[in-house]
Amino acid sequence: MTTKIIFDTDPGIDDAMALLFIEASPVLDLLAVTTVFGNADIDPTTRNALYLKDRFGLKAPVYKGADKPLIRPRNPSPTFVHGENGLGDVELTGLVPGEPEAKPAYQAIIDLARVHPGQITLVAVGPLTNLALALRADPEVATLLKAVVIMGGAFAVAGKPGNVTPVAEANIWNDPEAADLVFTAPWFVTAVSLDVTSQVVMTPSFMEGLEASAGPAGAFLHAISKPYAAFYGGRDGIIGCCVHDAAAVAFVINPSMFEVRRGSIRVITDGIALGQTLQKVEGELFGPSAWDDQPIQAITVGVRAEGLLRLYAETMRA
Ligand code: BDR
Ligand code: CA
Repeated sequence: MTTKIIFDTDPGIDDAMALLFIEASPVLDLLAVTTVFGNADIDPTTRNALYLKDRFGLKAPVYKGADKPLIRPRNPSPTFVHGENGLGDVELTGLVPGEPEAKPAYQAIIDLARVHPGQITLVAVGPLTNLALALRADPEVATLLKAVVIMGGAFAVAGKPGNVTPVAEANIWNDPEAADLVFTAPWFVTAVSLDVTSQVVMTPSFMEGLEASAGPAGAFLHAISKPYAAFYGGRDGIIGCCVHDAAAVAFVINPSMFEVRRGSIRVITDGIALGQTLQKVEGELFGPSAWDDQPIQAITVGVRAEGLLRLYAETMRA
């Protein structure tokens, strides 16, 4: 029994790590890749998705998505993290420029949800703009998905409280209004947040092991991990790279590796805390607040890092 996946992504080094993990997993069935701006502009992130599809023989179609946030100007691309080309500036060997499908990403999400009601898990690991556009165009989409699992947010319960500001995580900060819409829609969202993803690190020797055991994908993953690790080493003193987006995929495969906390979630959409994510824990009592009468969503507050890394390596090896 496999889980049907739509992967919404801004590739992105760790996005590529997550996409190849989905493709390699025998328990996931990738129906579509939808792209979004974020780690680079929409043309390079879409090109990167198409490149990965071509190079690693992915069957799933690629749909191009949003090129900017819902209402605010786009932040500059973090070229100091993901390089000018979004994939750490490694050479895109044998690049055959493909074309995305004609349909926009948000429409593909809606249409696939209608074809497979209650069966699709939407894994979103970039700014949440495509999901918000889908909700706006067809609010019923929220009732048609099995689950939404995002990599995003930082809840100050563990790990790092932010990575683009002291309190904001990049995917949420890149489109805070979209994120607030997504967290307050009546679908079941789990935010695999920076609290846990900053605790899972692929070391250089882990990546060397992948290169030695996981064929062409392993060699590619090792190559793109080097500039990513250089960024983490320079900024955070981490030896290796944080496993952000692949952690959301790991949650879908084996949620028991995570500890979660339930409650309604809102996103700060102005002021110095722009993009901060805050959860009102289920059952706690306060006076009236913006968290009242909102859907109960989940955030990750703990992770078994060793188990996650083992799952990744074993999946890629198989
Ligand atoms: C998230 O931001 C992006 O840079 C990464 O791809 C990941 O999705 C981490 O904050
Ligand atoms: Ca990403």
